[in-house]
Amino acid sequence: MYLLLVSVVLLLWYLLFRNKRRRLYQLAEPIPGAKDTFPYLGLLKNSYNAVDNVVSDIENISRETFKTGGIQKMWGGPLFFIALTNPADIEYVSKTCLEKDLLIMKSVRAFTGDGGIFAPVSIWSRKRKVIIPAFSPKILNSFMDMFSRRSADLVDKLKELSGTGTFDIWPVINNFTLASIAETSLGIKNLDGINDVVVSDFLKSVEEIFKVGSTRTFSIWLWPDWIFKLSWQYRHFTKHSNKIINITNNIIRKKRNDLKHVDLNVYENQTIFDHLILLSQRQNGFTDKELREEITTFLLAATDTSAVAICNTLLLLGKYPKIQEKVHEELVRVFENDKEKSFKDVLNDLKYLDMVLKESLRLYPPHHLATLFLFKLV
Ligand code: HEM
Repeated sequence: MYLLLVSVVLLLWYLLFRNKRRRLYQLAEPIPGAKDTFPYLGLLKNSYNAVDNVVSDIENISRETFKTGGIQKMWGGPLFFIALTNPADIEYVSKTCLEKDLLIMKSVRAFTGDGGIFAPVSIWSRKRKVIIPAFSPKILNSFMDMFSRRSADLVDKLKELSGTGTFDIWPVINNFTLASIAETSLGIKNLDGINDVVVSDFLKSVEEIFKVGSTRTFSIWLWPDWIFKLSWQYRHFTKHSNKIINITNNIIRKKRNDLKHVDLNVYENQTIFDHLILLSQRQNGFTDKELREEITTFLLAATDTSAVAICNTLLLLGKYPKIQEKVHEELVRVFENDKEKSFKDVLNDLKYLDMVLKESLRLYPPHHLATLFLFKLV
């Protein structure tokens, strides 16, 4: 009797739930559906091993979506997803619906707080007014000499490694991008005051945080905060997140201290961080916490994306020696064997290299998946 009552209540609840969402089902009906999905579970059937398979799953979904005209619907239990692969559709939706998907953002925001790109739109649009001027062409050009110097150091490092057998290039490039971002965004040269152990600690922690973030995103049982907080993943996440927070706090404290005696209005060689402080003083000011969130977001977003782009380009150049030869010829011609020439002087002449980089980014985009929340009909 008791069981019957529970079943009736559950059935009624389910019917009401479906009735409330009938418009969604109507709209979803004509969209082609993903093959190989389980009734009711949908994509969630993959969640037990989703982290291991995430890249191949995304690849498969993209291929299937290409075949169905660039649009495909998918269910993850009660959650409704639409995959898009047509650039024009993606551009339209990403301009119409700016709010990020809460599922993925939940894991990211636990770490970055409301840092720029990861923040809800209301916060992001206010912060953007401060951040975007810090990326003006004039400011970016002022970093060219630093990029040249750091790139020359990287070449020396790679020369040392060449001929020593196979080696993993990822940590070398990842260290290089972190050091470059730290110098341009924070003005920390040679990561002074921060030794190699701290740098590799930072990178290790970033990696661990990404791992926990993707595990949580693709593990339905870790979505509720209270369950996540009981898990070993949460303890692991907190340990690494605290490490990064400490490192960034130290960087910010040091930088703020250095800037105390400087009039930022007349100060040359400003970094992005200097600009954020300067622009903050005028309007839409950032609090210390917000500054830390922005810097953490910069360091995370810029280090990994740039390192992935460089590594993929190097791999492609290794795979296609004829293209590599052409890039080399252009560099020799443009630099005319003059090692003193700065990258700044020749940037616009490196046309072939520019095409190679763009093709590498097109084939292997470091940021290959964006999830947005559809809050209205598009
Ligand atoms: C190859 C390397 C990079 C790739 C592929 C890349 C990709 C992206 C993408 C896809 C977005 C849009 C994100 C979104 O709206 O969800 C973005 C935004 C952003 N990126 Fe990058 N990025 C790269 C390097 C960098 C670097 C080196 C920096 C700075 C130090 C940087 C700073 C930013 C900032 C500040 C935004 C937010 C802009 C806004 O609020 O509109 N990125 N990036």
